[in-house]
Amino acid sequence: MTSAHERLHGLVPRPVRVDPAPGACELDDLTIPVVIDPQAGLPAEGYRLSIAPSGVRAVAADEAGKRHAQQTVRQLAGPDAFRAARIHPDPWVLPCGEIEDHPRFSWRGCLLDVARHFQPKAAVLRFVDLLAVHKLNVLHLHLTDDQGWRVEVPDYPRLTEVGAWREGSWVGRPPDGTREHDGRPHGGYYTTDDLREIVAYARERGVTVVPEVDIPGHSQAAIAAYPDLGTTAEPVPVRTAWGISDHVLNAEESTVAFYRRVFDHVASIFDSPVIALGGDEVPTVQWRAHAAARAAELGLSSPDELHGWWVRQIAEHLSVLGRRALAWDDVLDAGTLPPGVIIASWRGEQGGIAAALAGHDVVMCPEQYLYLDHRQSDHPDEPIPVGYLVRLEDVYRYEPVPADLPGSARQRVLGAQAQVWTEHLDNPRRIDYAAFPRLAAFAEVVWSPPERDYAEFARRLARHHLPRLDALGVEYRPMGGPRPWQTRPGVPGRPR
Ligand code: ACM
Repeated sequence: MTSAHERLHGLVPRPVRVDPAPGACELDDLTIPVVIDPQAGLPAEGYRLSIAPSGVRAVAADEAGKRHAQQTVRQLAGPDAFRAARIHPDPWVLPCGEIEDHPRFSWRGCLLDVARHFQPKAAVLRFVDLLAVHKLNVLHLHLTDDQGWRVEVPDYPRLTEVGAWREGSWVGRPPDGTREHDGRPHGGYYTTDDLREIVAYARERGVTVVPEVDIPGHSQAAIAAYPDLGTTAEPVPVRTAWGISDHVLNAEESTVAFYRRVFDHVASIFDSPVIALGGDEVPTVQWRAHAAARAAELGLSSPDELHGWWVRQIAEHLSVLGRRALAWDDVLDAGTLPPGVIIASWRGEQGGIAAALAGHDVVMCPEQYLYLDHRQSDHPDEPIPVGYLVRLEDVYRYEPVPADLPGSARQRVLGAQAQVWTEHLDNPRRIDYAAFPRLAAFAEVVWSPPERDYAEFARRLARHHLPRLDALGVEYRPMGGPRPWQTRPGVPGRPR
């Protein structure tokens, strides 16, 4: 039996300051009142909880701090506080003491790829809830890719009539997997109302939804819908293989105008100050074969420069719309960038370092640590083992501010973001398996001070946080390895 005193330390994910006191506080209702006081000496998103036998006093710097205070009270009350319905009539019991807390980074994000495998709206709303439970505040929704277009655009109905559906999917991924298709049609998309609902639901929970429409590569689904957007005249299907398509957007003025309207529509739905334009993994082979004259007409010295040209067209349009562009670090290799572009550093840390030194804000997303679709162990039972080995411990040990970034550039690091790409995660259960508990480790990386002790975290996770995930119905990967039914991918009979 642990004392209330010990519990205060163990129950909350490493707050900035904890001072346990004797006694316990009994509450009938966990929705405690929180006073918002910008003069309380608390940093942005900060809160202070004073828990005494007589009750809880809570002060917060702002709305976000208020939500964090309420979330912490829930954590202190134990796993039952995370069940959809309360299952016992007794009062909640909180350990007494003072907690003062605020996040280390303002961008505490998670990408959910709904393009490779569409996730129903209810699954996205549930994912928002899970982010909020972990005090994460950005959901980056990857809405378009070669394999699917998921956002309804009323001016261009074929984007979803055609671009949202594909004939099948690769079962695995060479070289570890085969090129075999599952032969199972897949698709789906969000209506404007669906997306507005997601945005509003997330906003109520303190989560900003950053939409991504990927240009000028990762665009085969759009080209399948409107072949005039492509570089060759050849009709293409929505891609059924993983990997990168050579089918990129052409550089005609009409195609840029098309995408400006797409981004206008996206900006009318999403209130995020930041909108992602992708810009990653752009093969230039088709431009070299078919767009050399257009590149010359635009004053570019090589068709390869159409990559940077495209990024500038859309980033400038977003800035006209009053938004900032977020782009993957590949755009750093593609020529001059407009100054306000935020760089998402995914190919390691070097892109983030270069971008910060060049005066760009950055979000650190390195695949070596923060790609949660990557395999969690080397064990042969791990389902579809792609990518780097990203163990729970690797995520927990990740430090978002690169050690060799000079002092003046360090504040360019807005935070970090975990990525849940879904080539091999075709339903919410598999997403749970990939995301948890690694996302809990990540949540602490972006919230807490940099000094971390993995063994201490692992004990706290096993004892206090996994029971919360159980109460939430999250089918996480147990720390000892997958449950037997989790070793197989979601499609019955899929070979590994
Ligand atoms: C990416 O993984 N292509 C951003």
